[in-house]
Amino acid sequence: MTEKKELVDLDWKNLGFSYMKTDYRFISHWKEGSWDEGKLVTENTVTISEGSTALHYGQSCFEGLKAYRTKDGRIQLFRPDENAKRMEKSCERLMMPAFPVERFVDAVKQVVRANEAWVPPYESGSTLYIRPYLIGVGDNIGVKPAPEYIFSIFVMPVGPYFKGGLAPTNFVVSDYDRAAPHGTGAAKVGGNYAASLLPGKLATDRHFSDCIYLDPATHTKIEEVGSANFYAITHDDVFVTPDSPSILPSITKYSLLHLAEHYLGLKVEERDVYVDKLDEFKEAGACGTAAVISPIGGIQTKDDFHVFYSETEVGPITQKLYETLTAIQFGDKEGPEGWIFDVNV
Ligand SMILES: Cc1ncc(COP(=O)(O)O)c(C=O)c1O
Repeated sequence: MTEKKELVDLDWKNLGFSYMKTDYRFISHWKEGSWDEGKLVTENTVTISEGSTALHYGQSCFEGLKAYRTKDGRIQLFRPDENAKRMEKSCERLMMPAFPVERFVDAVKQVVRANEAWVPPYESGSTLYIRPYLIGVGDNIGVKPAPEYIFSIFVMPVGPYFKGGLAPTNFVVSDYDRAAPHGTGAAKVGGNYAASLLPGKLATDRHFSDCIYLDPATHTKIEEVGSANFYAITHDDVFVTPDSPSILPSITKYSLLHLAEHYLGLKVEERDVYVDKLDEFKEAGACGTAAVISPIGGIQTKDDFHVFYSETEVGPITQKLYETLTAIQFGDKEGPEGWIFDVNV
């Protein structure tokens, strides 16, 4: 598909983060030991057995990545092979057959090309969100791996995940745990997100953007910011991000660790971040594919509201990290080798 398609008529600058049916999705079925060829389909519903393990036992995982429109109109992906590899790990944890990494990347390209008319224009502030998922299906009732699987990818144009985009917002520490120390925290599995709905709602009811999860064993260290990773900058310019086996290994976070060190010249550390020692930081943020970089204005703990740089202004290092990351994603700046994939190559 090389000819340029007319864009669909949308208010590109004011998109939220919500579902929108686009034209095509990719679907492949696994049966008797192998994945079929897969194909693009127009139907946005999936019919599965009532005994599907995805419905009863949470045998389901997913990914989230984006396609970006460059200044000259090309469409590119940011590190899709890393999403494929993370999905492989999620599948391993839930005893599901992974969709091979190269086929995953190829399928992402196919879906994005087929929905080219839905890829937001450069500088609209919007991107095409890509949602691959893999679920256990087929007739079954016992607690055991499913006899069949579906891998699918659908896409939709989205705007900022947190209201305000690069404007700081506030978060509240949750009493709930997101994941157990040797549980499924490091895998992108459906059950983690079902369990996050209530703590998330309690946070937004109190007008916070989302909740912050502490380490489940001691409740003293920051792990995640809703469905994004946490980072902070010390007063002497060290980029710090928490280290724990129950955090989802964020592709954005690992990208920022690299950019902070090699593009901004900061020292970087993955280590414990104690919730009662937030004074050591001058800036903090949430990072992820959907969140991009969202500055954290303040964090509400049980008995304190801690403000980092400002509740209204973006800190200079956060601003620089955001500009560097997004310039690479939108093709305005050369990134490290292997980070950018053209959907037509
Ligand atoms: C729990 C959680 N943490 C962090 C992230 C950020 O990860 P990434 O940067 O790979 O999107 C996500 C989103 O995928 C997430 O769901």
